[in-house]
Amino acid sequence: MDITNDFELTKELDQKYCMQVFDLLPVAFTHGKGVYLYDQEGKKYMDMIGGIAVSSLGHGNKALTKAIKTQADKMIHSCNYYYNINKSELAYKLCKISFADKVFFCNSGAEANEGAIKLARGYFYHKGINRHKIITAKNSFHGRTMGTIAATGQEKFSKPFAPNVPGFEYVPFNDITSLKLAVDGNTAAIMLELIQGESGVRPADYEYIKEVRDLCNRLGLLLIIDEVQTGVGRTGKMFCYEHYDIKPDIMTLAKGLAGGVPIGALLATEEVASIGFEVGDHGSTFGGNPLACAAGVTVLNEIGENALLGNVNNVSDLLFSKLSDLKAKYPVITDVRGKGLLIGIEFAGALSAKGLKNQLFTMGYLVSSIGDSTIRIAPPLIISEKEALSFIKALETILKGKKKNIFGR
Ligand SMILES: Cc1ncc(COP(=O)(O)O)c(C=O)c1O
Repeated sequence: MDITNDFELTKELDQKYCMQVFDLLPVAFTHGKGVYLYDQEGKKYMDMIGGIAVSSLGHGNKALTKAIKTQADKMIHSCNYYYNINKSELAYKLCKISFADKVFFCNSGAEANEGAIKLARGYFYHKGINRHKIITAKNSFHGRTMGTIAATGQEKFSKPFAPNVPGFEYVPFNDITSLKLAVDGNTAAIMLELIQGESGVRPADYEYIKEVRDLCNRLGLLLIIDEVQTGVGRTGKMFCYEHYDIKPDIMTLAKGLAGGVPIGALLATEEVASIGFEVGDHGSTFGGNPLACAAGVTVLNEIGENALLGNVNNVSDLLFSKLSDLKAKYPVITDVRGKGLLIGIEFAGALSAKGLKNQLFTMGYLVSSIGDSTIRIAPPLIISEKEALSFIKALETILKGKKKNIFGR
C-alpha cells in the first residue's frame, strides 16, 4: 500500500484506525524545508506554529538531520543500564547554560512535569518532612497524564477522568495575595508557567514572579518552572526565567529541545536533585536515548553558532510592531501578547479564532487557535523578517476583507 500521495485514503485510515482525539485540518504533509511544509499535492504552507513550538530549527535543517542520521547508523538505543555519551554531553551543555546542576531525560513535556512533581515530593519525603501540596495556577497547562491533568488548573482536562490525583491547589495567575493565602504547612512547591501558552499566551508579571521567588525562599518551598513551551530560545533568551531575573529550583523542558525528536528534560539544583531522587526512585526506558540526545546537542549548538537568539529578538520586534500597527488599524484585534516568537493575537467576539485559523490555512499559513478568540504563532526560530512580513500581509488581507462584516455586526 502506498498512500503517500493519496489524501483521501490517509484521512479514511486515520478516521477508521486512529483514536479520534484531535480536531484535524484537511491536510497531510510529506516534507518541509526551513519554515515551509509541503502537502501531498505539493502545496506550500508557512509553518507559523512550528509544530506547536517544537520545530525550533525549522524543517530539513542540515545539521540536525545529519546528527540524527549519523546516530541512527551507529546505534538508536542502548538503555539506562549503561553510560551514554550523548546523554552525558547534553546534560553537561544544559547545566552550563542554565541554573541547573543535574538533568533527568524523558520523552515529553508531561513526563518531565510528572518527574518534577515526584522530585518535589521526594525532596521533602527524603528529608523526613511531611509536605506534599503543590500549588499551580488557574488556566495553566502541564500535560495530559493523570499527574499533570491534576496539576493543570483547567477542569476541562481532568473532569472525565476523575478521581484526580490529590495534593494540588489552584490559584489565580499573577495574584500574589491568593498565592500567599493558599500556602500552608503541607505546601511543598509552587509550579508555574512563565507564559501560559495553552490558555491564550498570557505572560506572568515581572513583579509577581519576583514575589513568588521571595515567598519560596522565605518558606523553604520549591519553585518549579514549566518551560516546556517557553524554553530553548523560544522567548528570545535561552530560558524564559532569565527575563524575570530569578532562578527556579526545578525546570522542565521538552518541545523545542531536540527540534522535533521526542524528548523531555527535568532540570534541578544539586541540592534538590540529590535529596529528591535516590537510585531507583525514577526512570524511563526511552528517556535520554542516544538519538534524541544527539538531536538535543545539535539544537543547542545551532542556536549558539547561528546566533538564533538574536534572530528571535529581531523578528519578534518586527512582528510585535507590525501587529500593534494592525491593532491600531483594525480594532477587532484587542490584544497582542507574548515574548520572542511565542505570540498570541486576540480578537473581539465577531471574529472567531478558529475561523481565522481556517482562513489562514486556505491561504497557506499554519497557526493555532486557542479558545474562541486567540490565535497563537510560534514559528521556527530561524524565520526571517521577510517571511514574518508575509504572514502579517496575509493576516491583513483577511482583516481588510472582513472589515465590513466585523464592524457591521
Ligand atoms: C507548558 C506546557 N507544559 C506541558 C506540556 C505537555 O507537553 P507534552 O505534550 O510534550 O506532554 C505542554 C504542551 O503543550 C505545555 O505547553
